[in-house]
Amino acid sequence: MVSRVIPVDEFDLVIIGVTGDLALRKILPGLFHRFVVGQMPSGARIIGSARREMDRRGFESMVRECLENSEETAPPKPDMVENFLDCMVYVSMDATEEGEWSKLSTELRSDVVRAFCLSVSPALFEVIALRLNASGVANSDSRIIVEKPFGHDLAAAQSLNKSLLVAFEESQIYRIDHYLGKETVQNLMALRFANALWEPLWNSTHIDHVQITVAETVGVSGRGDYYDRSGAVRDMVQNHMLQLLCLTAMEPPAKFEPDAVRNEKVKVIAALEAVDEHDIVRGQYGARDGHDCYQSDVHNAASKTESFVAMKLRIGNWRWANTPFYLRTGKKLKARSSEVAIIFRDPPHMIFPKSIGRKSNSLVIRLQPDEGIELHNTIKEPGPGGFRLMNTSLDMTFASAVNEVAVPQDAYERLIMDVIRGDQTLFMRGDEVEAAWAWVDPVIARWEETDQSPEIYDPGSSGPEAALALMHREGRRWRDLG
Ligand code: BG6
Repeated sequence: MVSRVIPVDEFDLVIIGVTGDLALRKILPGLFHRFVVGQMPSGARIIGSARREMDRRGFESMVRECLENSEETAPPKPDMVENFLDCMVYVSMDATEEGEWSKLSTELRSDVVRAFCLSVSPALFEVIALRLNASGVANSDSRIIVEKPFGHDLAAAQSLNKSLLVAFEESQIYRIDHYLGKETVQNLMALRFANALWEPLWNSTHIDHVQITVAETVGVSGRGDYYDRSGAVRDMVQNHMLQLLCLTAMEPPAKFEPDAVRNEKVKVIAALEAVDEHDIVRGQYGARDGHDCYQSDVHNAASKTESFVAMKLRIGNWRWANTPFYLRTGKKLKARSSEVAIIFRDPPHMIFPKSIGRKSNSLVIRLQPDEGIELHNTIKEPGPGGFRLMNTSLDMTFASAVNEVAVPQDAYERLIMDVIRGDQTLFMRGDEVEAAWAWVDPVIARWEETDQSPEIYDPGSSGPEAALALMHREGRRWRDLG
């Protein structure tokens, strides 16, 4: 089955900071892939801009190199790359300087969608948004794209939102949380709201608990400066993890429309209860021999920043009152594994003894690797010789369920096409970002007040012992990381 590729309207996409990491690693390869599958119309133009002085040849060789080295696409066909380059121009300018913007205006057309993607340090978002507006380069139909982090705390997020709103309407602002562009994350919505099967079970009466895991094997190398000022809660929980939680826990929206969906997500964040300090475990990786140690990776021997966090959350509403949500995320863990696992309650009256092998039913939505959905059931072990039970799973791994699909390989390519279409469903609204910070800020403030140290865990392990205990003490256990 080959998926339909619906071309988008003509556009001018300006990538400010095109020489930066995000543009070269994610955005250009993503756009190239959309170009290859035929989604970009012939009138699409990509205007790369950065401070670096570069002639056409220099720009072209930078783009060729980034596509050839990309992990996101198969080796590119040279003629495709040349055709892609025909859609691109480079403008050297300092986007923070007012006088420089006229260089860009001559490149833009008036009758197509204009989008400005800020692939620069978040510290520059505010000034660039203001310059964009003041220069007259952005019009009332233009779109601005910014990627997390959206501030470092609630106050910073409010200030950023305020500056963006001076220059743009909320309907023009596209805040990327790349988790929302992942295929399986969207499948969570399809699974819940396109099937009649799950909704009757999707509540505290039937669900014992939910586990949301984003485990990484990589450390923080190369981003130590940023990461050490953030930690796992700011870097992952405030955004990606809470988004997963919202999509799992939200009420069915009345329509599949951006604000209808986002209204329901905001309600989930608003219903989150304050976390008890005994329900949070912070960890930091550090091998006993001093190698492979977070503190040396970030060049800060006194760092108390967490590279791992596990927590138990409660959502104070009717649907979820008795169902805890356990979140865990960390770096340098034993496997790369991201999933949402719904663990169902046991039958109210069990006629089989536990000893003959029965586990709770679970529905696992796997984000990566091997995106797919698994439903774990109990069946009778085949064969004669006594009645024993065994656990088996109905497995829908997308790669084998759907062949030859021209699905976006990376979240960014889908998200940027959505910007051109003007569809904000998979982007975070300003109030959503602020609500998430309002919930996270007190958690971080408590650690800062008490100067609490994280628990050290071995690189390549499942995280700190205390994280396992967080579950065990309630008779539950984390799913194995694999
Ligand atoms: C980013 C975080 O937002 O997400 C990184 O800043 C993290 O620290 C990354 O590694 C994880 O994304 P993915 O798509 O690899 O799961």
